[in-house]
Amino acid sequence: MAISQGFVEELKYRNRIDDVISSYVNLKRAGSNKVGLCPFHSEKTPSFTVFSNTETFKCFGCGAGGDVITFIMRAENLDYISALEFLAKKSGLEMPGETENKSELVKRSRMHEMNREAARYFNKMLYEPCAEAARAYLAKRKLSSSAVKRFGLGFAPQSFDALRKYMHTKGYRDEELREAFLCGKSERTGSYFDYFRGRLIFPIIDNLGNVVGFGGRATDDETKPKYLNTSDTPVFKKSRNLFALNFARTCCEEYIILCEGYMDVIAVNIAGFANAVATLGTALTSEQARIMAKYTKKVVISYDSDEAGQAAAKRAIPLLEEAGLEVSVLKVKDAKDPDEYIKKFGAEKFRALIEGSRGKFDFLCDGVLKRHDLEVPDEKVKAAREICELIADIYSSVERTVYIAKAAEKLGIEAKSLTSDVERIRHKKYREDESAKMRKIISDTSGYGDRVNREMVGNTKAAKAEEAIIGLIMLKPELFAKIKTGELSLSADDFKTSFGRKVFEAIERQEGRADLGMLGAEFSVEEIARISDMQRKRAELAKNDETVLADSINALKKEKNVAQSGDELEDAMKIILSKKNSSK
Ligand code: CTP
Ligand code: MN
Repeated sequence: MAISQGFVEELKYRNRIDDVISSYVNLKRAGSNKVGLCPFHSEKTPSFTVFSNTETFKCFGCGAGGDVITFIMRAENLDYISALEFLAKKSGLEMPGETENKSELVKRSRMHEMNREAARYFNKMLYEPCAEAARAYLAKRKLSSSAVKRFGLGFAPQSFDALRKYMHTKGYRDEELREAFLCGKSERTGSYFDYFRGRLIFPIIDNLGNVVGFGGRATDDETKPKYLNTSDTPVFKKSRNLFALNFARTCCEEYIILCEGYMDVIAVNIAGFANAVATLGTALTSEQARIMAKYTKKVVISYDSDEAGQAAAKRAIPLLEEAGLEVSVLKVKDAKDPDEYIKKFGAEKFRALIEGSRGKFDFLCDGVLKRHDLEVPDEKVKAAREICELIADIYSSVERTVYIAKAAEKLGIEAKSLTSDVERIRHKKYREDESAKMRKIISDTSGYGDRVNREMVGNTKAAKAEEAIIGLIMLKPELFAKIKTGELSLSADDFKTSFGRKVFEAIERQEGRADLGMLGAEFSVEEIARISDMQRKRAELAKNDETVLADSINALKKEKNVAQSGDELEDAMKIILSKKNSSK
């Protein structure tokens, strides 16, 4: 990556972290720092902290952390280069010139351009004689020409090289087309072939209006698979995009309608709701939930009415709630999906359905009632127990009371007895939570379950020494000079965990000026959060000079020669016990 340190410094200078974050989070001063409610997970008391002096942030609730660039990567759901572009644009800075950053940037915009060209081609083909069956299919599905225009639908001819030949005339090479999943390449013969053949094409457009991928539907109901989709490419991640968000984002302050399929979204749009999106052939991800939370307060799940659809709705609820969204679920009766419902009963009925969409509790409760025959005493007991479990999960006691009353009526059981069952379950859950917390403390202190540095476990002493060394160098870049001149002897080979080593090597490449903004090109946002922690934790300590660095290097070297030690879990246990005692 040829982005220079100078550019990143200038970018960060023009985009002070407080200013940038203030437009996302309501920050309040707390001593020399500022705090607010974390935008990356839902919380009621602020644990999101901005450290103006180091230009970093950290959420003590969910662990997110880093610098202003990492923040933008997370908040705007962008990769490193796009986050730089975003901040550059915001502060009137030009991205480094062609020669400097040729690779990434140019490649990305070329891939966007290539996809757009392909979308144009597919759209043109839809009006050719070869697309007759496709047009007939659109008509059968009652997809108007204005819907076709709006969504830029197209047709990929039944040919192995029609698109390729066209794209060649526009200057694109087979290998580029393959990378964008517009072509495949035969492993056996090494020849290239069009990926989408004889399919209706749904272009997928990102928030910035770029064509990032395609879905291709068979033009009948026999061909398998029904859909072919673009796999992940450098400009497209299925798990981070939503179909039609480019339309929905501007008209969804109140709510978003979340559908299962492209066809549903289009039908819902034709019925007058532009605030509809769909996932891209996968189950909803937490990333997608957070993206929606940036644009709206509430999501109305509008999945297929079959069992698979209802099960998917049930799985989507907690993800959406974690993102801070209110959730309700549509009850599509006598139709398999919203598309069919609208065709059968019309837009007005669909609107009524949305207005009457059930809150999460009613949806889950109905699910339980449907599975049990309340006439059979045993079954009724089971249903009551499941419903009490649901109510026990509700945080607000007012809401619990309301739902208990509702459930009592549906079950024909006295509210009083439901209440005592709910309270019993809550107590049990509380105890379980407490012991889960304990287990987490044990695993954190001993490095178990550490996803950023997997070798932490069994190497905690070495890993702690590594973190101290890296934190010190980040805090005081001048200390790195002592390493470079050999005054202090330390090389990448002295590092015991590969994560520590990788960070040190990156710092070496930056000549010791280990700016988080530069490291962002090589490390994930989770890794950046960890590296940022190393610096922050050092900064909190009183003594940070050469002697501490020398001691840490010695400690690391000593550990490097020790095989994984077994007594670290015991150390962890001691910490736990002391915590337990002090909390009494
Ligand atoms: N999907 C997929 N691959 C398949 C089937 C489905 O990727 N073989 C994805 C598509 O994104 C599709 C969504 O899952 O839009 C929902 O599937 P389904 O309800 O079967 O498709 P619809 O879009 O509703 O299409 P239709 O109404 O024409 O069946
Ligand atoms: Mn469907």
